[in-house]
Amino acid sequence: MQTVHRLSELRAYVRAQKLAGKTVGFVPTMGNLHEGHLSLISVAREHADVVICSIFVNPMQFGANEDLDAYPRTLEEDTQALHTKGCDLLFAPSANEVYPNGLTIQTRVDVPELGDYHCGASRPGHFLGVSTVVAKLFNMVQPDVAIFGEKDFQQLAIIRKMTEDLCFPVHIVGVPTSREDSGLARSSRNGYLTAEQKKMAAEIYQTLLFMKSELEQGKQAFDELSQEGKQRLSEAGFKPDYVNIANASSLAPAKVSDKNLVILVAAFLGSTRLIDNITVQL
Ligand code: PAF
Repeated sequence: MQTVHRLSELRAYVRAQKLAGKTVGFVPTMGNLHEGHLSLISVAREHADVVICSIFVNPMQFGANEDLDAYPRTLEEDTQALHTKGCDLLFAPSANEVYPNGLTIQTRVDVPELGDYHCGASRPGHFLGVSTVVAKLFNMVQPDVAIFGEKDFQQLAIIRKMTEDLCFPVHIVGVPTSREDSGLARSSRNGYLTAEQKKMAAEIYQTLLFMKSELEQGKQAFDELSQEGKQRLSEAGFKPDYVNIANASSLAPAKVSDKNLVILVAAFLGSTRLIDNITVQL
């Protein structure tokens, strides 16, 4: 596997692959790779001849009081893991390579509405940063297929919408959330948790399963059920940010007539913010 840090090197690589008639699969990440990320590499391999992974901790998607500086950077281990997994190229640019003119005057990609709820409401500007960097990365890598985890359900919905609205010729593939045996969704932020907290964190998935089962049994009092979910998380030691039941397409608060729902959760365990979700078909 090659590693490149410069856009010019990436472009030369991609040009050569395309000239050779190869299709390109792309897995954008912020590094600190775990099994979940590595499964995205395997899925990319199923869809394309060449697999490119990017590692870039995108400053534009972090709020002023968030963990940009503390975000785990493990390039050496990540490179090894990608190499073992059979990734073809790692693109690991600096912030200056991605944002040569800085963030303030950077053109932004704003996907309306889908970003208004859930994490968009709790983390203003977050999805503006995500859609902007993903649009830039798509233009840099020029992939045929790009792979994203469904753990970031709202992010995936926003990226699908952006790809369609801006006519990117990229097929977006969502991959089911990778979970520990306890049910805890794999996330780079799990690395912030103590062993004790990691055990407690499994309660998020249990809460999602409980809520899903209530919905499947016909519960329609969505607000009440969300409150119950929050209560369970609080009792388990979390500080819930939100527990929302939404329409799985629009991400707007669910209506009783909706058939495809998603339950989205964000909750703090200590200072670590964890997210998870589950879909429900009625
Ligand atoms: O999901 C992530 O790791 C990031 O939000 C992404 C898609 C790589 C954009 O920075």
